[in-house]
Amino acid sequence: MIKAEKLKAKYGEDGEEKIVIHGIDLEIKKGEFVAVLGHNGCGKSTLAKHFNGILLPYSGRVTVDGLDTSDEDTIYDIRQKTGMVFQNPDNQMVSSIVEDDVAFAPENLGVDREEIRRRVDFALKAVGMYEHRHKTPQNLSGGQKQRVAIAGIIAMQPDYIVLDEPTAMLDPSGREEVMKTIQKLNRENGITVVMITHFMDEAALADRVVVMDKGLIKMDGTPKEVFSRIEELTALGLSVPQSTMLIYLLKKSGIGIESDAISIEECVDDIAAFFSKKEEKL
Ligand SMILES: Nc1ncnc2c1ncn2[C@@H]1O[C@H](COP(=O)(O)OP(=O)(O)OP(=O)(O)O)[C@@H](O)[C@H]1O
Ligand SMILES: [Mg+2]
Repeated sequence: MIKAEKLKAKYGEDGEEKIVIHGIDLEIKKGEFVAVLGHNGCGKSTLAKHFNGILLPYSGRVTVDGLDTSDEDTIYDIRQKTGMVFQNPDNQMVSSIVEDDVAFAPENLGVDREEIRRRVDFALKAVGMYEHRHKTPQNLSGGQKQRVAIAGIIAMQPDYIVLDEPTAMLDPSGREEVMKTIQKLNRENGITVVMITHFMDEAALADRVVVMDKGLIKMDGTPKEVFSRIEELTALGLSVPQSTMLIYLLKKSGIGIESDAISIEECVDDIAAFFSKKEEKL
């Protein structure tokens, strides 16, 4: 489990310091897929960087499976347990061949050759990029590059992956590829996922949604629980999935439909069921 206790974070030195996380308690349990939402500048990336010790708490503490990120003796283990994926795949590529790129981190860890081969093949298959292993990353699409970056993390055999807006720079098909990959890694490979996103439809795919505002956690629940609070979310400068918004607007205009749909499929089913009932009454 990743655990933040009374976490405060600050930037800047004495005199000009600015506290940007104001005391957060949060537990990410093994196996979960957690989406983190929040308006620009609310502290999402800062929080994420505490999960593998890129940043250390100003006060409070963060532990990964009980290991304190502030403890210099365990930071190496923590970095191996928690992998980070960022927005821009180009900044995460280090080699001119896909499979060398994925091998880079385990090579640095001193993993032996045979084991590296096994891990690289496994990671590339897990993200669906195995057949592209001899290509140059520059010739791949954005979604493919991001999947290679994710494979590079998988090759480290992490328990947790923290993704900071991994689809922000991708086109719709690239976004879909990456989301499918993330869901598969969570469901089939048992990797715990923390994903920051500005896309509500992506957050709707998680088991749990955490909403931040001004350095604090404002909501924490299942996607259905969180997205049912449309007016509060709007007040925080956030939106809801399009399906949820459509149902909300229908209700507001006097159509008495009952639905907690967050996906297009559920929304279509609920609207169809509502109108077929009406038809029966005619
Ligand atoms: N390196 C830094 N030095 C000083 N202030 C910073 C630094 N990084 C972030 N901040 C400030 O800390 C606050 C939180 O930033 P953070 O990047 O964590 O927000 P975010 O929720 O990830 O935003 P976004 O949605 O834009 O990515 C913001 O006010 C930001 O300006
Ligand atoms: Mg950010």
